[in-house]
Amino acid sequence: MPGFNIKINRESEEPIYRQLIQGIRMQIDSGTLSAGTRLPASRDLAKQMDISRISVVNAYAELRAEGYLSAHAGRGTFVAREARNGNHIPSRSLSPASQHHQDDTALPDSSLRDMMRLARRPGVINFSYGAPPTEFFPVTQLRDALNTVLDRDGANALSYEAPEGYAPLRAAVRDYVSALGIRCSAENVLITGGAQQALDLVVQALVSEGQTIVTSNPTFLGMVDIARARRIQTYGIPVDEDGIRLDILENYLLENKPRLIYVQPTFQNPTGEVMPLHRRRQLLNMACEYHVPVVEDGVYHELRFEGDSLPPLRALDTNNGVIHVSAFTKMMLPGMRIGYVIANGTHFERLVRVKLAADISTSGLNQRAIHLLLERGVLAQQLVRNNRELLRRRNAALVAAERHFPHGTVWNTPEGGLYLWVKLPSTGPSAAELFVAALQKDVAFAIGNVFFTNNCGSYRMRINYGLQRPENIEEGFRRIGAAWHALADTYRDEYEYEDVEKAALF
Ligand SMILES: Cc1ncc(COP(=O)(O)O)c(C=O)c1O
Repeated sequence: MPGFNIKINRESEEPIYRQLIQGIRMQIDSGTLSAGTRLPASRDLAKQMDISRISVVNAYAELRAEGYLSAHAGRGTFVAREARNGNHIPSRSLSPASQHHQDDTALPDSSLRDMMRLARRPGVINFSYGAPPTEFFPVTQLRDALNTVLDRDGANALSYEAPEGYAPLRAAVRDYVSALGIRCSAENVLITGGAQQALDLVVQALVSEGQTIVTSNPTFLGMVDIARARRIQTYGIPVDEDGIRLDILENYLLENKPRLIYVQPTFQNPTGEVMPLHRRRQLLNMACEYHVPVVEDGVYHELRFEGDSLPPLRALDTNNGVIHVSAFTKMMLPGMRIGYVIANGTHFERLVRVKLAADISTSGLNQRAIHLLLERGVLAQQLVRNNRELLRRRNAALVAAERHFPHGTVWNTPEGGLYLWVKLPSTGPSAAELFVAALQKDVAFAIGNVFFTNNCGSYRMRINYGLQRPENIEEGFRRIGAAWHALADTYRDEYEYEDVEKAALF
């Protein structure tokens, strides 16, 4: 076909289907392929380029989801838009080098999240965002706590607080984490605006522009956003069922000197994985051997409804190599924005300086109210009640997934946290395509791509089952399944039904 001379680099780490996506995108954006042009059938193009048909099928599927292509049952696949005169939509993997190192100076990529924002419109059964459900929030107890604080402290509760935090809350955090096995003094506790600010402060305190942090791949989107905003590179290490792959991490550490390793050992967002004890210890040993600090994010640690709790990394660490970050957000009240960092020595001093520069201090009123909720045992009651309900919702999700998701879909069985991490069959619609179709049926989930540092995960979706009551979970999953089947029927000609097992894209 004229104009279809896309070069595939078979030595590249970049999967072939992604190279094809980039090639076709570029040809459309530059005007080489104009709107209405019919693309070769996937089988023909695969043959012509000597690549597997599944690569072509996947590339076409993703480009359809992005609006570059459209498919018409029985007629084929067509270019759906005009050239953009070099004005590309945000692409997060333009070259093999940028596959892991995101050193673009852009602000956090918002394209897919803009789509997910649509999910917030009323009437949508929304599994997409990462919050606990509002019906869990202890509103009455918070109102009482705020009144008590204002009666007791008056205007003092409304002044600037010390940058390190309200002293009684720092002591309460010390006591709280000691029950998880973390020994520290109140002097090691810095109160922050949620875990998100805690992570941002750690990055600012320890990493300079252009330097690299290691994360798991997939990882928490908020950390990827921080890195982009601070112009820091991320290197994503693949995971297995026990978390970050240490063989690959070690290979990386042999040749590189990242400034931090960021992990979520318990109920990772988005995979829901828990790192077993032996891997926790191995990770700590490796980090110590290569002198790289570990930042541990524990926001989901206490959302356990099944199985035995494991010690946080900071509790296992004997080398002073772990900075522990967590918050009372997922556990209780996200909007109060109270989180904390536990760090030692110079790390702590630097963190305080950065905190002062960031916002002077976290709201003294909110700190006092959370402190009172801890003193009054509200957090402990919340955790018991919420985890009981999360278990019910998790069970409803497992049953509904079995009943409604297409054959070949796989998912985890989380023992805690909020997320079902789902892999759709790579022979059908991608998660982005399914998202658009599902939204028309008033149901939404998070598209898996956004959690990867190299734009993998086209068939992954993250479902926050915690957000919905069991009856909505059943109905929502039914709609997702129906949307998948409707799409698969429309595009039947384009999807590969053979070679299913060979389609190992990530
Ligand atoms: C793993 C992880 N860390 C941190 C955060 C940020 O939480 P916070 O509301 O405490 O800032 C989130 C929120 O989604 C998260 O999933």
